[in-house]
Amino acid sequence: MPDFTVTPWHVEGDIDYDKLTRQFGTQKITEQLHQRIAQVAGEDHFMLKRGVFFSHREMDRVLEQYQNGEKFFLYTGRGPSGNTHIGHLVPWVFAKWLQDRFGANMYFQITDDEKFYSKHDMTLEDTARYALENALDFIALGFDPKKTRIIINTRNIRTLYPIAAQIAKRINFSNTKATFGFTGETNIGMIFYTALQSAPCFIEDGPVLIPLGVDQDPHFRLTRDIAPKIKKHKPALIHNMMIPGLEGPGGKMSASDSSNTIYTTDTPDMVKKKINKYAFSGGQPDVAEHRRLGGNPDIDVSYQYLRIFFEPDDGKLESIYTDYKSGKMLTGELKQILIEKINSFFQTHQKKREEARDKIQEFLYEDR
Ligand code: TRP
Repeated sequence: MPDFTVTPWHVEGDIDYDKLTRQFGTQKITEQLHQRIAQVAGEDHFMLKRGVFFSHREMDRVLEQYQNGEKFFLYTGRGPSGNTHIGHLVPWVFAKWLQDRFGANMYFQITDDEKFYSKHDMTLEDTARYALENALDFIALGFDPKKTRIIINTRNIRTLYPIAAQIAKRINFSNTKATFGFTGETNIGMIFYTALQSAPCFIEDGPVLIPLGVDQDPHFRLTRDIAPKIKKHKPALIHNMMIPGLEGPGGKMSASDSSNTIYTTDTPDMVKKKINKYAFSGGQPDVAEHRRLGGNPDIDVSYQYLRIFFEPDDGKLESIYTDYKSGKMLTGELKQILIEKINSFFQTHQKKREEARDKIQEFLYEDR
């Protein structure tokens, strides 16, 4: 048994990211590349600084092209298997920053077909409903309506299909089987699916940059292999780590496991209860011990959520780290900080999310 598994449809175990980088054959984001991104963007981003985005494929090439006057466009996506949770927001928030800094067009693919193929208990109606719900969260983050289009696979197949056909013809069954571990029982929708996830990479002529969870990398490894064969740019990628579920290391947040997950639609009370009850703690069993030995922020889920998403201020984050580690701050106090941060973020987000219902039409891609 391997100690961890990372595929687009299954993430399990305590992921060793150095090992994963070697397995996938991606490049680590070096301090030098981090500085270069910040320099070209004109601003640093805490997710880069803290290693939330840790790996890439040809990010350096895309920056170079950009500096030579060739603009890239952005692409990312969402498999609508349930409501949006805070883990999903990580690459989207970063994508929004990239759009602002580089003035890039953005395509957001919602794969209602994929989740129908991969989840035996979901109907196409279920995934179509979640597609629209998930789109609201995406729009709520403030993407520029002039530069952003949402592609829904079953609706926009007319645009996607001719591109997918070019791709599908150049990927053979042995390639997909080796990449994803398909067997004789795998339905053929899944086998073709990579061609559809690849299609938006070529929706414009220029180079594309894809911010994404590292679990999605295998699709684009195949896309990159075939890109030269269809005389296109290889897609460049920038990968974020998987966001742990509330119950701690050993998996990512899953949209279908409600006690392990915080949804963007949770009420303040639900957030409070879930964090207090389920968030894995790096603290000691009792207060006296905690004061004496201190807590371990590196394994504490509440601290990790602050680091990954909810506390962009480095100074504040550092003092939380120090106080928790020394035992000055108790687990309950740390959880309280996170609860307040999430709820204040949600207060704004949920309002924008509702407003997005009227804007959705503006964002949907129109087939020509
Ligand atoms: N397969 C992805 C998921 O399950 C959705 C997706 C489609 C995606 N296109 C993408 C994710 C591009 C990242 C980048 O969530």
